[in-house]
Amino acid sequence: MRWEADGVLSLRLCDPSGEELPSWQPGAHLALHLPGGLVREFSLCSDPQDRSGWTVAVLREPSSRGGSAYVHTELRVGDLITVDGPRNNFRLEDAERYLLIAGGIGITPILAMARELESRGADWRMLYAGRWVTTMAFLPELDRIGAGKVELHADDEAGGPPDLAATLADVDGRTLVYVCGPEPLLAAVEAQLADPSRLRLERFKAPEPIAPPEGGDQPFDIICAGSGRRVHVPVDTTALAALEAAGVPMPSSCTEGICGTCETGVIAGTVDHRDFLLTEDEKSAQKTMFVCVSRALTPELTLDLS
Ligand code: FES
Repeated sequence: MRWEADGVLSLRLCDPSGEELPSWQPGAHLALHLPGGLVREFSLCSDPQDRSGWTVAVLREPSSRGGSAYVHTELRVGDLITVDGPRNNFRLEDAERYLLIAGGIGITPILAMARELESRGADWRMLYAGRWVTTMAFLPELDRIGAGKVELHADDEAGGPPDLAATLADVDGRTLVYVCGPEPLLAAVEAQLADPSRLRLERFKAPEPIAPPEGGDQPFDIICAGSGRRVHVPVDTTALAALEAAGVPMPSSCTEGICGTCETGVIAGTVDHRDFLLTEDEKSAQKTMFVCVSRALTPELTLDLS
């Protein structure tokens, strides 16, 4: 465990038997299982080449639902915790140029991306913004990785937020923009970027839930393809809750459609996608769904479940 900035603690996680850990790609996150049934996701920020350990960084949040408070006040060096993953909903795709934008603790996946892009010799630059400079983690490492490519912006020193319009001004069809940070930053980038197809976002929290279709939510049945079992999903119950109540083992974490843990293959039927992960093309393909939030537009969905 190490302090990376005010309120930001990094954890290095190792296999207790000393085995190499699974490989991962920048943008991946882990789900940490904490006492009390808490499961919280944290982005990996270490070097993917280093299979001897994984590093995540955790911000102490006053509004924490328990995860960050536990890590900061209870977790101790040598404690054993269960970890799921790595899982990646924020992959680096091929592009000629990259613009990385991090806000606050959103630096964690962006740091791993910067390291990867620099090692590839890619054309990249970064805006890293924080409200107070003392809370901005990994500044020495960023200086090592990308001196001259990283613009640091601390609101307390600059007297206000960064000029996103200027940062986004030269984004063109050859550039992909990766953004991770608090919702106001994501919303501001979404509002100011002319071509939304260039944008890749990682969210900490779900925005407002996606509204039901006209006529409201409808009940539907899930057919588990492996067993043929039928699970009814009432109007006021999520597919995840109905499956869990029926004893179908389902991994889940955020229950807000942002972490990807409950992703389930779709074999037949039409999904009403309400997650914040799939692209429009992926939604249209109807190959996968996130059962914590998404429902059905058909009376039945056949899912890749046993
Ligand atoms: S549990 Fe996180 S997307 Fe469903």
